[in-house]
Amino acid sequence: MSSIARMNNGIYPGSFDPLTLGHMDVIHRAAGMFNTLHVSVLNNKEKCPLFSVEERVNILREATKDIENVRVDSFSGLLVNYAREKEAHIIVRGLRAITDFDYELQIAQTNRILSNGEVDTVFLTTSLEYAYLSSSSVRQIASFNGDISMCVLPFVAEQIYKKFN
Ligand code: PNS
Repeated sequence: MSSIARMNNGIYPGSFDPLTLGHMDVIHRAAGMFNTLHVSVLNNKEKCPLFSVEERVNILREATKDIENVRVDSFSGLLVNYAREKEAHIIVRGLRAITDFDYELQIAQTNRILSNGEVDTVFLTTSLEYAYLSSSSVRQIASFNGDISMCVLPFVAEQIYKKFN
């Protein structure tokens, strides 16, 4: 990775409710590509989340504390406006399967148009071992007290079980 010239600032946005090992895989790989990677939690008031935005930011900060060029924050409103604020021209998103593609393509094209071509999106294909993983399935497994140790970091699993107990 060090032989590839690093791009300026990137943004990896998402709900991260909860943060999964699939997200961590994307964060590690994207951090190697940008000078600074902003991991940004969407503050979406319409959703009924498992973790508050503050809790998710704290979880992400703890999980990424050893990756020196990662900054964690939250945002509300349009992602392209937040990207401008952070002087980030590239959004990073993970693609697990073709089923993600329609949704992601639509968002990427919308963001490009909304930003007059200033903000582009790059996709990282999720590593195969995490291709099946989603935050919603983690929430569901945990709600039935199932094993989520292969899906999330141990300290995140503890916090998830606490929410359901
Ligand atoms: O983890 P998620 O829930 O799939 O992430 C979705 C996210 C945060 C990337 C998307 O909902 C988003 O960027 N929302 C902010 C509002 C916005 O900018 N909308 C315009 C593009 S449709």
